[in-house]
Amino acid sequence: MTEIMSAVPRNGYQEVWDRSQSHRDDFWLEAAERLDWDTAPQTALEQRSETEWRWFPDGTLNVCANALDRHIDAGRGDTIALIADSAMTGTQQRISYLELRDRVATFAGALRSLGVEKGNRVLIYCPMTPEAVVAMLACARLGAIYSVVFGGFAANELATRIEDAKPSVIVTSSGGLEPGRQVRYLPLVHRALEICGEEASGVHAVIVANRDEVPGSAADYADDGAGAAWHDWDTLVAGAEPADPVPVNANDPLYILYTSGTTGSPKGIVRDSGGYAVALSWVMRGIYDFGPGDTIFTASDVGWVVGHSFIVYGPLIAGGTTVLYEGKPVGTPDAGAFWRVLAETGAKILSTAPTALRAIRREDPDLAELAKYDLSNLRAIYLAGERMDPETWHWLRDGLGVPVVDHWWQTETGWPICANPLGIEELQVKAGSTTVPMPGYNVRIVDAAGADITAPGVEGNIAIKLPLPPGGMLEIWGSKQRFIDSYLAAFPGYYASGDAGHFDDDGHLFVMGRTDDVINVAGHRLSTGSLEEVLTQHPAVAECAVIGIADELKGQRAAGFVTISRGSDIASATLASELIALIREQVGPVASFRDVTVLNRLPKTRSGKILRKTMRQIVDGEEYTVPATIEDAGVVDEFIEALSTTVSAPPTNVVTLPR
Ligand code: COA
Ligand code: AMP
Repeated sequence: MTEIMSAVPRNGYQEVWDRSQSHRDDFWLEAAERLDWDTAPQTALEQRSETEWRWFPDGTLNVCANALDRHIDAGRGDTIALIADSAMTGTQQRISYLELRDRVATFAGALRSLGVEKGNRVLIYCPMTPEAVVAMLACARLGAIYSVVFGGFAANELATRIEDAKPSVIVTSSGGLEPGRQVRYLPLVHRALEICGEEASGVHAVIVANRDEVPGSAADYADDGAGAAWHDWDTLVAGAEPADPVPVNANDPLYILYTSGTTGSPKGIVRDSGGYAVALSWVMRGIYDFGPGDTIFTASDVGWVVGHSFIVYGPLIAGGTTVLYEGKPVGTPDAGAFWRVLAETGAKILSTAPTALRAIRREDPDLAELAKYDLSNLRAIYLAGERMDPETWHWLRDGLGVPVVDHWWQTETGWPICANPLGIEELQVKAGSTTVPMPGYNVRIVDAAGADITAPGVEGNIAIKLPLPPGGMLEIWGSKQRFIDSYLAAFPGYYASGDAGHFDDDGHLFVMGRTDDVINVAGHRLSTGSLEEVLTQHPAVAECAVIGIADELKGQRAAGFVTISRGSDIASATLASELIALIREQVGPVASFRDVTVLNRLPKTRSGKILRKTMRQIVDGEEYTVPATIEDAGVVDEFIEALSTTVSAPPTNVVTLPR
């Protein structure tokens, strides 16, 4: 067996990046040697067409075996693989590689007993408890393709994903814990199956992990009549035979992860198995300088790509210890929550979203909580998910005295496109920049016509020269063409990231924002189009527009602007509250949708295009220019006047936790 995570040579970033371009195939085949393969790949890249490529096409492996069994075989079974820390229940569990492997193998056997085999789909809707990780790895062990749905999404979003992925089994839990309330998952799963109707006819089993803190069990749904049998996790597992890892082709999908696009229907990003495992094993050493003996605390959720790559697969493939955290950066119970977890777990790395740090800064600007904890193991903080504002960056770096690395990536890429590769060379860190492209990524700035305009200071669309490196998305689930249309058609020869930005004189990239209708609320990606689709469902709404406006804490938040249908006599305030409740019910609390303004008419051009940019600039208090093509200049004054009537409502349908 290859030595686990042999170190990436520290011969300088530029040399490593250049080699990833000039000797691309050798570069990635060497990286692949760090994994255990059932059939070692001889070919790095198969270019099937200009828009389709596959990494390691002749390799077979099992990702779960690389994340767990490999380390046990190397005599490290007693090493702690997972520390599950719940600030919500005040508990902490430490699970060794051996124990985690056994739990995963047995749960894989339980899935198999329900007919789940390689290529079948499983949907996972779980809170941040070990069962989520066990379920993910168990699917990987069988070669089943799973999709995790974030707990903050409501029944409708869950239903959309069930309809698209067509799982045969759903793995869930009685629920999650949010500050001050329980989130009961079972009614949501039940409702989602109802919404799907016939579309969910393939779902023949629902597995429920019980939590003492949240009521609800499989037995409550024994007679639900919807066709699926509901099983209790513990009962099912008690009779299960442990399953061995099933070798899969490197190109077989490991998971589908849904993300927001510009339309209402979410895109199922398909991740391969081999390329992803190779990329993550490179990243853990090259970017994070992380390996056996190290602990990483990634404060995200397994419902997001960050959770997949840096709570689960990256740290475990690297043979380190990962922290699974259920809680918030503030209020659970205070702004020292992250520092407590770092101190108690001895983590070397904290990875989180800027919004979490802004929340801590708002509560504890002088970092008084820090003094209570020993963070001597901490080497660096990594940030992703949204643009890091330079002010918070300075506050953090000065307060903690460790490098603060802003790295840029997407669900689609699966790992950082740009970062400061501390495992190779610590480059100069600049506030507001995501540093430099990582190996395999040839990042360019292109204009609207796709011409390469890359030059210091020149702003444009950020595009990546094809092919994407290992681990990048294979396609959109169910539609190769949608992948091409969404990402490859805009700039032939490039992957269009959907972000805009520029390089500086030193080749450091500054990512400035999206070029489409995707907005980023507390590091969560939302499509304004899908929110608009929900608003128009209200019978009193004639027209609407949702725009992303600046939010001090969450970076952005969604604000809705609606006009009332002729003949409807609903009061504006009533309509606003109903719309806020509707988004919460249909999309979920994660949308954080609170602001609705009722207008007499939407500002539009003569050709009927809604002036979203002008609206956003006005709301954000920025300078704005009214396009000459405006339908009627008076509409802008009306719009400004209407802003004083915006309804900003508190969250509704809250279930209070018993004290
Ligand atoms: N299940 C159910 N509901 C959830 C949820 C989950 N897993 N996660 C969040 N929600 C709910 C919250 O309870 C909240 O509901 P409310 O409207 O009843 O208060 C709503 O969704 C919005 O949640 P959140 O975005 O977490 O905002 P917040 O105001 O509760 O907390 C922060 C603000 C900054 C503390 C929080 O946004 C945060 O920790 N952000 C970090 C985000 C992150 O890690 N992103 C990773 C992406 S890489
Ligand atoms: P997601 O797929 O949910 O991870 O969201 C990806 C999007 O988040 C990117 O396209 C960017 O718009 C934004 N994003 C992620 N990381 C960064 C970063 N470090 N700086 C700026 N924007 C970022």
